[in-house]
Amino acid sequence: MKASEIDISVVSVSKTFRTGLFTKKQAVKDVSFSIPRGEVIGLLGPNGSGKSTLLKMILGFLHPTEGEISVCGEKSQGRKARFQIGYLPENPRFPKFLKAKEAMLYYGALYQLPHATIDKKADELLELVGLRHVANERIKGFSKGMVQRLAIAQSLINRPRILIFDEPMSGLDPMGRIEIRNLIKKVHLELKDSTIFFSSHVLEDVEQLCSYVALMNEGILKTFSTTEALLSSEAQRYDISLDKEMTRTVDSIEELVSDLTTLLNEKKKIIAVHPHRKNLEHALFRQNESLQTRTQEKIG
Ligand SMILES: Nc1ncnc2c1ncn2[C@@H]1O[C@H](COP(=O)(O)OP(=O)(O)O)[C@@H](O)[C@H]1O
Ligand SMILES: [Mg+2]
Repeated sequence: MKASEIDISVVSVSKTFRTGLFTKKQAVKDVSFSIPRGEVIGLLGPNGSGKSTLLKMILGFLHPTEGEISVCGEKSQGRKARFQIGYLPENPRFPKFLKAKEAMLYYGALYQLPHATIDKKADELLELVGLRHVANERIKGFSKGMVQRLAIAQSLINRPRILIFDEPMSGLDPMGRIEIRNLIKKVHLELKDSTIFFSSHVLEDVEQLCSYVALMNEGILKTFSTTEALLSSEAQRYDISLDKEMTRTVDSIEELVSDLTTLLNEKKKIIAVHPHRKNLEHALFRQNESLQTRTQEKIG
């Protein structure tokens, strides 16, 4: 892969927080990966696994204790890198007295863009996120989903090449989640060549949106892979539906053939054979199971 095609490069990055006079917490442990341009990456992991810390280091808000991060070939701490990134924080808040459009103008002004440019851009982005009709209403009356959509619009004001969204779907009801998921798809289509890196603890969000999957646990990057490779590493399973609503599952095509032969010889009635839909949950679970076994083997 050419260096110019890499948008985010993280090399041996660790982050330790001082939590007391004599206590420390290592939130991110020796993490390395590269994200090619134009991809959508989902960062999975339970609460406290280091996702926000990692994202904040990429944004340049936090310094890594060890290692290097570059964004579009620039050091992540620098102003140049910062201007390439749009950011949706974990719990976006806006001054409640502001109206949606005023908030857009305010954030646009921070990037020192000419007023006419910001004005036009604000309208376009409010349209994109479906808030144009409430552009002149106060944020005070907005639902959580609307605030989230406004925050996404705000993250795009500078036409960034990289978008970092920290838990964009958290705290939303199922309909709200679907809306934000669809909006992320729309943003990726609209902003061609943009790289979107978002964290979530919901597998389904990642499975539906991402070409890459990263999984963190206790500060360690356990998995970094294309979604495709993960899913294709997963064995194809089948359900055999028998008479009387009985179903059995087999783990490979060989097992399927052998089971069907036996069942037919026994004159059993077979109603249907269905391939299982391969899913990320199985693939990740299996990969991390084998990781654990390998670690144990090393120790043992
Ligand atoms: N500023 C901080 N000071 C001390 N500990 C922190 C700080 N920020 C995060 N941590 C700790 O680092 C770990 C990872 O946190 P975080 O990156 O927020 O995880 P996630 O976003 O995956 O929930 C947690 O144990 C958290 O308590
Ligand atoms: Mg977090």
